[in-house]
Amino acid sequence: MTEYFDFKNGIIKENLKKCARIILDNGTVVFPTETVYGIGANALSKEAVKKIYLAKGRQSDNPLIVHISNKDIIKKLASEINDVEQLLIDNFMPGPFTLILKRTNIVPDCVTAGLDTVGIRMPDNKIANQFIKLCGVPIAAPSANISGRPSGTNIEDIKNELDGKVDAIIDAGLVDIGIESTVVKVIDGVPNILRPGKITKEDIKEIVGTVKVNDKVFNKINKGEKVESPGMKYRHYAPKTKCVLVYSDDENEQITKVQKILKQQNNACVLGFKEHETKINCKKYITIGSKLDLSEVSKNIYKSLRQADKLGVDLIIIEGVSKTGLGLAIMNRLLRACEYNVI
Ligand code: TXA
Ligand code: MG
Repeated sequence: MTEYFDFKNGIIKENLKKCARIILDNGTVVFPTETVYGIGANALSKEAVKKIYLAKGRQSDNPLIVHISNKDIIKKLASEINDVEQLLIDNFMPGPFTLILKRTNIVPDCVTAGLDTVGIRMPDNKIANQFIKLCGVPIAAPSANISGRPSGTNIEDIKNELDGKVDAIIDAGLVDIGIESTVVKVIDGVPNILRPGKITKEDIKEIVGTVKVNDKVFNKINKGEKVESPGMKYRHYAPKTKCVLVYSDDENEQITKVQKILKQQNNACVLGFKEHETKINCKKYITIGSKLDLSEVSKNIYKSLRQADKLGVDLIIIEGVSKTGLGLAIMNRLLRACEYNVI
């Protein structure tokens, strides 16, 4: 049975203690972060970590991020930290940022899926921080969703997938950012973005001077191909319905493209901008936010994908954005949700 705790109007200390107790008893707790909800378990306990893989139906070769509430712990989890890595820690933690570091032996193999590195993240979220602190152990946590599906950003969606599969769920309402943290690995002194997020390529360049976006972020991965981050290999963020991503630098051309697809497929819905709702004539139009506010789009995207999935349409047509700033992360998720079906 899953226990529910409502923290929408603030943290209830007694209940947070109950959640920490569950963690120390090797249980699993869904908790909010600023990016998406996570399924947490004691990162230092094999028995606890196994329950995460089971709840999500996650492949055992896909490692988990370890969440901390205090930077001093990094030294225990990571065997070396170079100057560039330290600079990233100083500037982006706490925040929607995960750094891949060489790991020590206290991190169990099942957390890192046998890799010699570990992903470390310090969330910038009050509930997450107090929760991790109370637990007194680092918390391994993937996004709160069944593997392959859009990440959990609100309790209704999470309940639908994980009720009965985790020990407790903390409800803190809709998350703030809505897409997962930026994952970075420093290779030969250069920060490589393995998964784009709210901390952008531009943000990292400003601090370190150089930055690379891993070429797999926007390219299809062939079977058996070696990747820096195992998560890149799997079908991701995808609704059950077939999706197509529509993008053009020219706004009117983008609208025309959507209209053209709608003519060919009338049982379709559109996930589009607020500004285009009256221009694109579709009865099933879901607004993902304003074209001028990408943070609104990132917050709504997973919720909207799930909403679209429930409409019983044959096609979900999604409007794309320019790949700059937060747009890079949004397009990375949308491309994969559409399985690279782009027009
Ligand atoms: O915002 C987030 O990062 C959320 C919240 C809950 O913190 N967590 C999250 O975890 O998105 P997950 O498991 O859904 O995605 C973690 C990604 C996966 O693609 C995984 O392959 C990659 O990070 N990853 C984890 N450890 C890694 C490592 N040692 N080396 C390379 N990639 C790693
Ligand atoms: Mg995930």
